Amino acid sequence: MAEPQLLDDGPRKPVLSVDSVTKTFQPHGRRSKPVHALNRISMDIAPREWLGIVGESGSGKSTLARIIARLEVPTTGTVSLDGVDVTSWPGGRMAFARRVQFMYQNSLAAMNPRLTVGQIISEPMRLHRLTSSSTEQEARVVALLDDVNLKASLIAKRPRQLSGGQCQRVALARALALEPDVLLLDEPTSALDVSVQAQIIALLGDIQRDRGLTIVVISHDLALVSQTCHRVAVLHRGDLVELGETAQVIEHPEAPYTRTLLDAVPRIATLAESV
Ligand SMILES: Nc1ncnc2c1ncn2[C@@H]1O[C@H](COP(=O)(O)OP(=O)(O)OP(=O)(O)O)[C@@H](O)[C@H]1O
Ligand SMILES: [Mg+2]
Repeated sequence: MAEPQLLDDGPRKPVLSVDSVTKTFQPHGRRSKPVHALNRISMDIAPREWLGIVGESGSGKSTLARIIARLEVPTTGTVSLDGVDVTSWPGGRMAFARRVQFMYQNSLAAMNPRLTVGQIISEPMRLHRLTSSSTEQEARVVALLDDVNLKASLIAKRPRQLSGGQCQRVALARALALEPDVLLLDEPTSALDVSVQAQIIALLGDIQRDRGLTIVVISHDLALVSQTCHRVAVLHRGDLVELGETAQVIEHPEAPYTRTLLDAVPRIATLAESV
């Protein structure tokens, strides 16, 4: 598969900075205890970097990605894009969405079942008034379908008529429609069987390289991350326990929890050799 584009020109300003982000959920009901989903998380993400976030279920991965994407507000701390606090991004949510797109953990559930594939992909372009005519819009949708290796004939289908792999490709096409710089992917392959997973990973590699995207990919699957990411962040119960170059983290994990995660993935030993 295509290698992710390498970090080539020395230190660069981060495109994203997560600074001491904490998230505490207060569930409804007086007896329920607050859930500390994230504890003072800080990390910088470089332009064109591909960062993996791993950790077991409930470790806070989706919460962190949702906060970066402005879908959730941190309890304390800030997230900055190009040095600007995302909550005060000029032009608000709409302008922010042009730069940062989020692909949901369950993309089928996130799609309106009544809309066609064409409507799903063109919706962001329509909202942002990016196309001037329906002919231009349809041409864009066909080009985006082609970018994710789907046939134009899918345009009139509805989400439930798609396979899992097709559904992820449609979600990706929609996320790319606004030509963002940053793509946040929450478990992009977990619902797919192994051969389709490999196709989606290869597609993401091509897209990342062609468009120079910054990608943050969440996965509980360290094997997936080891094949694709420049660096990997390990979350454990809301704490960032390790962050480093992927090969380094896999071959010489520092945190005991990372070792436990690695031990749970027998395939990793062979994959690590190909990083
Ligand atoms: N809206 C919410 N209200 C209350 N608690 C929440 C909410 N969202 C997440 N949590 C809690 O925060 C913690 C982290 O959840 P999160 O969804 O970020 O984990 P995750 O690492 O993405 O897990 P998974 O691998 O299962 O998707 C969990 O204990 C979860 O129950
Ligand atoms: Mg999650």
